[in-house]
Amino acid sequence: MKYLIASDHAAVGMKDEIIEYLKSIDLKVEDLGPNNSSSVDYSDYANKLCEQLKQESDALGILICGTGIGMSIASNKHKGIRSALCSEPLSARFSKQHNNANVLCMGARIIGGELAKDIVSSWINASFEGGRHEGRIKKFCGE
Ligand code: RB5
Repeated sequence: MKYLIASDHAAVGMKDEIIEYLKSIDLKVEDLGPNNSSSVDYSDYANKLCEQLKQESDALGILICGTGIGMSIASNKHKGIRSALCSEPLSARFSKQHNNANVLCMGARIIGGELAKDIVSSWINASFEGGRHEGRIKKFCGE
């Protein structure tokens, strides 16, 4: 499994912390930018990550902006993307188990780095439960 990660200017620091965390536990991570804190549009980075994610069968995405809201709205516009904005680990776990979230969004102005790592950890360690959740997802995802 590879993790694609992107942010906007408001979350470059948290993105770097998460990259370091993922590498420290031997996970593959690809940084899609930005690489400095000059102002950018979160929508461009959400689109970039989602387009790449749709091409990669064995990848998941992490998107971070100031609140996480812009990234979650933008990413959920993409067909096949199920993006979950999480500010605590329990939602992150359920977003994978029940919603099969393939993108995790967080807000760097909302939560701190340690909590963000905890959220990422819960999400990456959870698995989709399938079963009744499969049919529910099909009703909006069409896959
Ligand atoms: C950027 O100022 C801010 O709007 C963005 O990071 C995010 O919070 C949008 O939802």
